[in-house]
Amino acid sequence: MQVLSVSKSPPLAGEAYIHGAKNGALPILAACVLCRTPCTIRNCPDIRDVAHTLSILRALGCTCVREGGTVTVTPCTCPACHIPQALAGSMRASILFLGALLARGQEASIALPGGCPIGKRPVDLHIGVLRALGAEVRAEDHQIVCRAGTLRGCRIELPIVSVGATEHAILAAVCARGCTEIRNAAREPEVADLARFLSACGADIKGAGTSVVRITGVPSLRGAEHTVLPDRIEAATYLCACAACGGQIVLRGTEGCSLEPVLHVLAACGCRVEQGRSSITCARTGPLIAPADVTTAPYPGFPTDAQAVVMAALLRARGACRFTETVFEHRFLHVPELCRLGAQISVHGRTACITGVPALHGAELHARDLRGGAALVLAALSAEGNSTVSGMNHIERGYDSFVPTLQALGAELKMVEKPDLL
Ligand code: EPZ
Repeated sequence: MQVLSVSKSPPLAGEAYIHGAKNGALPILAACVLCRTPCTIRNCPDIRDVAHTLSILRALGCTCVREGGTVTVTPCTCPACHIPQALAGSMRASILFLGALLARGQEASIALPGGCPIGKRPVDLHIGVLRALGAEVRAEDHQIVCRAGTLRGCRIELPIVSVGATEHAILAAVCARGCTEIRNAAREPEVADLARFLSACGADIKGAGTSVVRITGVPSLRGAEHTVLPDRIEAATYLCACAACGGQIVLRGTEGCSLEPVLHVLAACGCRVEQGRSSITCARTGPLIAPADVTTAPYPGFPTDAQAVVMAALLRARGACRFTETVFEHRFLHVPELCRLGAQISVHGRTACITGVPALHGAELHARDLRGGAALVLAALSAEGNSTVSGMNHIERGYDSFVPTLQALGAELKMVEKPDLL
């Protein structure tokens, strides 16, 4: 079994290129099913979740070819309509294929989706959106089964802000008969990027990126070329690596990385952060000071996906601060592992209280989810001695070239064979 061996790193230095956003690429690739002609998706990250999505597209009869960061998807005339558990269960975004297939007038069925175990991750909003558009949806034997039929535009009021349900509604509505209005829509940049791709394919979408999205159905979509927006959470991760280890780094390819809440916290705790047109520079030479409390919220609030990595950067900050997680009910899986490094963190419901400690020490760590796993690596880079991190498969789901990127910045880490226990 391979684990990541991590040692205390010197201050980081150098440049890193930010890849295309995982949470941008996944819905866009699912949307390719809707198109009648080939799609070219550029800046597509080479990560496990994208590989799984391409496997789903191939299982549905599409042809997918990757050349470097560019993926070409050639849809088939009559896609298959079932996505088995082996593919659907590997990630959360697989559920979006339901709406894409239904929008083509197909019946569709999918095993319940997977995803990070950061909460119950229900799909009731997704099912509600499809039913509102007129689909007949049944949940049976851990599957969601939808009968074919013509979808009709309608007014959808999401009871809570949901990125996936917003994207699902957009995907299912673009070829529905009539107009659809989505209220209380998620405003994440990845939602707007999906809409940009679909508009290039001929969809009529207005207001994506705001809380009210209006869609006028069109008969069909053609293929298009699109460049996926940069991954703002990947950028946040490497900025936090610099905050944790010290030094100065420059991130390139970050144009459109909407990270103001994270940059504000990093600046408040002593980092010098400068945003250029397509770069972000971060420097930390002095001690970190605990910032004011952090509360996660849907965009444009503090991103829940950055909660773990920012926490990891603050474990040795002078003073104390609290992180309140309002989006997912179980997103502190990384806390017990961080405490094995000597961090002082107590969790009370959805709030984690961190008191800075003078030093952390090496430990054997296990990643349980994508962002929490990245946080363990960042914390271990700033701990005395050596640590190991297992469960790297979680990190490989969502970070392209995670280890080489950190190595290029001077971090001391490498994959090693972990001796099997007797
Ligand atoms: C997307 O997940 C992202 N994943 C997540 O990133 C991200 O943390 C999340 O949005 C919030 O920004 C992808 O885009 C692939 P939600 P999603 O629906 O769509 C509840 C990462 O690390 N809810 O916005 O699943 C849900 O339980 C991942 O990159 C329902 O109750 O998140 C949560 O409490 C992790 N019923 C809240 O809504 C539903 O049917 C927000 O979840 C759907 C969601």
